[in-house]
Amino acid sequence: MEKKISLDLGKSQINEESILKFQERADHIHAKLHSGKEAYTGWVDYAMELSEDLISEIEEVAADVRKECTAFVILGIGGSYLGARACIDMLGNTFHNQVKSDIPKIYYAGHNMSSAYYLELLKVLEGEDVTVCVISKSGTTIETSVAFAIFKEFLREKYGESYAKRIIAITDKEKGILRPEAQEAGYRTFEVPDSVGGRYSVITPVGLLPVAVAGVDIRELVKGSRDAYELYKNTDLKENEAYRYGVARYLLNAELGKDIECYEFYETKLKNLTEWMKQLFGESEGKQGQGLFPVTVEMTTELHSMGQYLQEGQQIFAETVLNVENTGAHLAIPQELGYDSSWTMEKLNRIVTEGVIQAHREENATPTIEITIKDLTAHTFGFMVYFFEKACAMCCYLRDIDPFDQPGVEKYKANVKQIIKNG
Ligand code: PA5
Repeated sequence: MEKKISLDLGKSQINEESILKFQERADHIHAKLHSGKEAYTGWVDYAMELSEDLISEIEEVAADVRKECTAFVILGIGGSYLGARACIDMLGNTFHNQVKSDIPKIYYAGHNMSSAYYLELLKVLEGEDVTVCVISKSGTTIETSVAFAIFKEFLREKYGESYAKRIIAITDKEKGILRPEAQEAGYRTFEVPDSVGGRYSVITPVGLLPVAVAGVDIRELVKGSRDAYELYKNTDLKENEAYRYGVARYLLNAELGKDIECYEFYETKLKNLTEWMKQLFGESEGKQGQGLFPVTVEMTTELHSMGQYLQEGQQIFAETVLNVENTGAHLAIPQELGYDSSWTMEKLNRIVTEGVIQAHREENATPTIEITIKDLTAHTFGFMVYFFEKACAMCCYLRDIDPFDQPGVEKYKANVKQIIKNG
């Protein structure tokens, strides 16, 4: 089986011995994760158990959506939309909405509360045939609920009583208010599995349906996750790179005293992947006064802003550089700049990456982790998601933190409800 992601700790300042000391704990954590007894660990073998029937149903609905609409709006926040967005951006055309194709234009809403954003989006959608996919496990998230109410009104005005045919709801099988509404109104529905939390739900209908609409081969994506499952069930810390990364993150903080992990990417298509990673690690690990604070740094754009801070500011961070081995895109640099014909944008990009890593290490001894993604394909995406999810669970459990809850998020939600109730 081809490994789609590889980890290089050679410049991390973490030595092999420190990693291997955690073997016994890693074995325990692995057993716990795979026991089937821990709450919200359903994602661990979800891809392995995903039925052919469900994959086909998702493909069929996605094919119908592609035929029925010219614009597809994904409503959700956090784990309910970031994974799909990361995948669509990584695999699709950056300018997809401006390119003629049989795939509808893709828009996102429900992830902010900006009046201007909604007013402008609704205006853009006036001339389009619109299908809306609302994704909320709880069905009660305020941003998504408000967005959904706005879009139902929009669809009713556009399509009258048949508006319900323009809606797909992905929600809990029974909990929350979205499920009964969907049943009563007759929306097409998919289930968010009970045992999978939002940020671990990309390889469930939550991510699979939207990405299938966007033309992603979900069979390849699921296969990627299945292959990763096979690879990362070996608990040996000399070999399991997902667990090695989890342990390394723990040590960045515990041993090297770093508080921040900068996810740096030099391929623009990874922008929302790092947003998804930021959520995965931040929301899972930031508890009980612990956790690396994850930030994303877009290169080379931010070399001309944050590059200064990274080089000469407070050295409180470690850097995790995401490389892509083969982007599949090759652009020659015009020779008028003095480069010969062997020079491509990719080659130059790699050289800039190396130059930056070198500069930060030489002056500041910045711990640097390099993670290399093989290519920008569905198989790699599915593989990579599983890699990061396993790494995250390992790291949190090493800190004795529950990777799957978000008590801090619940607090603000409760406050908002209370303030609304109080008038
Ligand atoms: O990872 C999580 O659990 C969160 O980010 C949720 O996905 C997010 O809060 C949205 O919740 P819901 O799907 O219930 O609307």
